[in-house]
Amino acid sequence: MPARRDDPPLTLDTEESVVNSTRELTYATWRYQRNWKPLHVVDAEGCYFFDSAGKRYLDFSSQLMCSNLGHKNQAVIDALCRQARQLAYINPSFATDARAELSELLLGVLPQGLSKFFYSTSGTEANEAAIKIARLYTGRHKIISRYRSYHGSTGASIAATGDLRRLPIEPAGKVDGVVFAPDMDPYRSPFGVEIPDRAAASVAYTEYMIKNEGNVAAVLVEPVVGTNGVLVPPKEYMPMLSEMASRHGVLLIADEVMSGWGRTGEWFAVDHWKVKPDILTTAKGITSAYVPLGLTATTREIADHFEEHYFAHGHTYEAHPLALGTAVAAIKEYKRLDLINEARRKGEHLGKRLRELEGRHASVGDVRGLGLFWAVELVKNRVTKEPFYTAEDKLAGRPSLLDQVGSAMMRNGVFLNNWLTHFVVAPPLIVTEAQIDEGVAALDAALAIADEKTVQ
Ligand SMILES: Cc1ncc(COP(=O)(O)O)c(C=O)c1O
Repeated sequence: MPARRDDPPLTLDTEESVVNSTRELTYATWRYQRNWKPLHVVDAEGCYFFDSAGKRYLDFSSQLMCSNLGHKNQAVIDALCRQARQLAYINPSFATDARAELSELLLGVLPQGLSKFFYSTSGTEANEAAIKIARLYTGRHKIISRYRSYHGSTGASIAATGDLRRLPIEPAGKVDGVVFAPDMDPYRSPFGVEIPDRAAASVAYTEYMIKNEGNVAAVLVEPVVGTNGVLVPPKEYMPMLSEMASRHGVLLIADEVMSGWGRTGEWFAVDHWKVKPDILTTAKGITSAYVPLGLTATTREIADHFEEHYFAHGHTYEAHPLALGTAVAAIKEYKRLDLINEARRKGEHLGKRLRELEGRHASVGDVRGLGLFWAVELVKNRVTKEPFYTAEDKLAGRPSLLDQVGSAMMRNGVFLNNWLTHFVVAPPLIVTEAQIDEGVAALDAALAIADEKTVQ
């Protein structure tokens, strides 16, 4: 079956890449597209994965921006097997060596002051816990989030999500009490003024909201917004926001589910600005996605409150030993391979190569990023910044031009995620410069599809 031009990027290239007898089962994913035919992946190693026809793909987005150590890391696999043999599961109210060892390691890598840990199984659960902790600790109810954000898919985290994924479940499928502050978007600012002023304006308006809303428990932000555009704020923004929130007794929750674990060239994105959040949530890279794990880290002061007050929260799989033992190995691998510094070094090369695309392609409106975390934003018109695809298009299930570009890259053996208007370029932190060049070359070639559709 020849691939159609409007195929989404994960679609099959060839009939042979599906094992026919398991066809129905391999197709059994939850997707909007009625005729969705996902690629059947059977193996992965390093920065590559392989389909059932033996075709190799460069993983230029670390799957869902989570396979930071790449695939088949031997130390992580060994730790996972060791933990499975020793103690695969135990009631979370017991103490375990894996928990002690991970907590000790976290104290050394998390922003200073975060010293009490709630372990769950995903980013959405990490944020659910953070929101509940903030409400119980402050005795206040409202959470301030931003429109250009994704915080997860369950009750509170989808309520705190600003992007279109919140819209289909409103109002019944989400908790109440979330209000949205101005975005810190350097490309499409809600204020349309120069960058230092935008940061100040954004923080000033958030302060205005705190004063006028009343009853605000916390401000929840992705320090570098991930899926919604790899939005790197100006350096003043996070310190100003943190200082302002603290002045009002409002907690700052940093959602580092995607931006943590070396992705931006620091352990956590807040480290770029020496900001110390009251609560930090993370998942994904904490185990490099080898097993599911979410983390909600709080200050001692917040934790102490729950020594005396009931924290009505928990999961059967809380502090799951398999996940904790694997995270220990993953963190040791980040250190052994010096991947935080590598992300900074390789990120310079990646940024330089991606910026070259701006000069060559009329469809590239913006290239931005930090470390090994970049967005390439496509526009129909560079002057008006008119996008090829909108939230309304996505909700209506219309085909996306970025999916077409992604499909062309898949045919060339490179996997790259996109969201509405941009690609999220986030290879595993072990990527080499040659692999970066391979990925950028595939994007360079595929962008001709978008260039043809520009209206300058
Ligand atoms: C910033 C951010 N927060 C939360 C989540 C939700 O994490 P999970 O998919 O593990 O529930 C994501 C997922 O992409 C994310 O990027």
